[in-house]
Amino acid sequence: MPGFEWFGNEERKEVQDVMDSGVLFRYGFDQARKGHWKAKTFESDLSQRVGSAHCHLCSSGTAAVSIALAACGVGAGDEVIIPPFTFIATVEALLTAGAVPVFADIDETLCLDPDILESALTDRTKAIMPVHMCGAMARIDEIKSFCDRKGLILIEDACQSLGAAFNRKSVGTFGRMGCFSFDPVKTITCGEGGAVVTDSPDLYSIAAAYADHGHDHVGNDRGLEGHPSLGTNFRISELNAAVGLAQLKKLDRILEKQRRNKKILKEAMQGLPGVGFRKLPDENGDSATFLSFFMPDENKARSLIRAFAAAGIDSCFYWYDNNWHYLRNWSHLKKLSAPARLPLTLLKNCPDYSTIETITSDRIMSRAISMQIKLSWTDADLGLRIEKLLKVFKD
Ligand SMILES: Cc1ncc(COP(=O)(O)O)c(C=O)c1O
Repeated sequence: MPGFEWFGNEERKEVQDVMDSGVLFRYGFDQARKGHWKAKTFESDLSQRVGSAHCHLCSSGTAAVSIALAACGVGAGDEVIIPPFTFIATVEALLTAGAVPVFADIDETLCLDPDILESALTDRTKAIMPVHMCGAMARIDEIKSFCDRKGLILIEDACQSLGAAFNRKSVGTFGRMGCFSFDPVKTITCGEGGAVVTDSPDLYSIAAAYADHGHDHVGNDRGLEGHPSLGTNFRISELNAAVGLAQLKKLDRILEKQRRNKKILKEAMQGLPGVGFRKLPDENGDSATFLSFFMPDENKARSLIRAFAAAGIDSCFYWYDNNWHYLRNWSHLKKLSAPARLPLTLLKNCPDYSTIETITSDRIMSRAISMQIKLSWTDADLGLRIEKLLKVFKD
């Protein structure tokens, strides 16, 4: 997820435009901004890139998920089915909305398994939020048809997977709304930023208003704008948007390099004892931020990750032990520990998260290892990495 590896004069120029105009706010100041509308331009470029009718840029991926929930009318007491392998932000956005996260297992795509969704349904289920993890896609066509059949809202957390596509259709564009993140470690970055995309003009209007205190953005006097709804402040600044605008122009080159590096690594690892690769519903659509694979059992995965560290093979992730990306270590969620009482605790349908088990997901995650794919690797770096890898497996 390395957009930051390729910062250069392009980002500097976009930021300089903003500094020269002195307008850091994304709305208004039409004269002073000298034609520079960084957030607005980013929105239309991103819409075009992912093939959505509308896009609203915001302050983070977490904000994007909150905005999507609000725009889709998901709120207090509504159950939303999510996978236990995600970044905690997905859960936090739900809790902030007063909605109830309901965990359903993943499969070997490392994403929500469409085959077990039925068993997670209750009469309070309002939405399903698959998370396209580690740069690649869930079985999104099957999840979408399940949602359509059941009349459920589909919101995609595609925060980690800009550039990924299933059958040439961008992730994030299958559901009612899709969410992206441009935080500092994502495929492209704004420093901090996020976006929601949708084909619905109505959802777009609600989202854009909600993210800016309910402003309808009609007219030339901000103080006299209408407020169709209450909202909050999830605005992005022009400075952040400027960085992202330059980065977006590099997306295709970034994807090309990632895919090439991943392919070389994957080919080198074919046939290594015990190694089975992550299932990809559409391998050509993988954004290739990671190469993920499974070992036959937890012990073998643990000893391999130790051997990689000892051999100096960096940027390898064993998510099963990670405190932020997998339910197993979310002790704060299990205790519902928050600075103030969560609305969830007032609900009858609040599950006891301390006793929740996701055994199938444990079985998958305890065997999974992800290697980050870097843009900065030279062919010599890649060659050395492969040499070390092969030696680890031989020893
Ligand atoms: C799956 C997922 N959802 C949401 C987020 C939140 O994005 P941000 O860090 O921009 O708030 C992240 C960030 O890592 C993520 O990985």
